[in-house]
Amino acid sequence: MRHFLSTQDWSRADLQSLLDRAAKLRDTPIGEPLKGRTIALLFLNPSMRTRTSFEIGAFQLGAHAVILEPGKAAWGIEFEPGVVMDGEAEEHIAEVAGVLSRYCDAIGLRAFPLFKDWSIDRQDRVIKALAEHASVPVINMETIVHPCQELALMRTLQDHIGQPDGRKFVLTWTWHPRPLNTAVANSALLIASKFGLNITMLIPDDAYLLDEKFMDAAHYQAEDAGGSVETTTDIESAYTGADFVYAKSWGALPFYGRPEAEAKLREPYRHFMVDEQKMALTNQARFSHCLPLRRNIKATDAVMNADYCVALDEAENRLHVQKALLVELLGGSSPG
Ligand code: CP
Repeated sequence: MRHFLSTQDWSRADLQSLLDRAAKLRDTPIGEPLKGRTIALLFLNPSMRTRTSFEIGAFQLGAHAVILEPGKAAWGIEFEPGVVMDGEAEEHIAEVAGVLSRYCDAIGLRAFPLFKDWSIDRQDRVIKALAEHASVPVINMETIVHPCQELALMRTLQDHIGQPDGRKFVLTWTWHPRPLNTAVANSALLIASKFGLNITMLIPDDAYLLDEKFMDAAHYQAEDAGGSVETTTDIESAYTGADFVYAKSWGALPFYGRPEAEAKLREPYRHFMVDEQKMALTNQARFSHCLPLRRNIKATDAVMNADYCVALDEAENRLHVQKALLVELLGGSSPG
């Protein structure tokens, strides 16, 4: 049995196999390779794309998805071991994982970090607890990484610019009214380095460097794949010659749990918004974002409306790559 918790646990060849199968499922979307199978999807946080694409994807494969929102329409869950459960949670992940494993063929979980103590959140304990207690495959639907988004990004990048090796990939930080999860930024580094891109991470200040475990992983994966990773605060040099621009906002880890203090650091950097002038410096790059995106905050209307914006393709590819993943994990047969 195999989980999908992070792309770091999967080889480039295995990930490429998923991407190839996703392309075939895009051409032949309806079938019954997973007829009669079921997946439970636990959302501890809001979602539009992830929930919709998994639910529709399961349906198109002949499977059924059950959506659960612990703490809302399902009992709240305790994830820590050995806790005296005299708080809000009515049941422990040991029983939740055990019960769902009896009913379902896979379990997905979205559990954002709590934005209080990064030394705890960086351990990704919640999804690890689920994987420990489940006897069916567990899928990460975003914790401190977002591996399903990684697959969609790489499918989209390959669709638009072809072979990734040696192409210039810019991951640019953008301003946002509040500090956001680092998950998609961590994930962009992981997948771009795994596939041999030359990564330029554009940040306004060293406080926006990502956790060293992801920075280090990006460096050693890039070295293995023949790519590179560099970090800069210089907007013009970052965009110049880029083949693919990926934008995301994230919070500064040294200020984790202190949003008011972080806001003062962030305030001067609204000009990191992606605009036509910056995109004009590129090698006719494609632009993308995982969505949701605040227009005229992270990217201008002109950029979002441009032919080079492939964010909707990436959102569509969430459906295809996740179907490929379900077929792989649940052992169905489908094109590819
Ligand atoms: N990109 C993404 O995961 O979107 P949702 O938060 O809407 O699921």
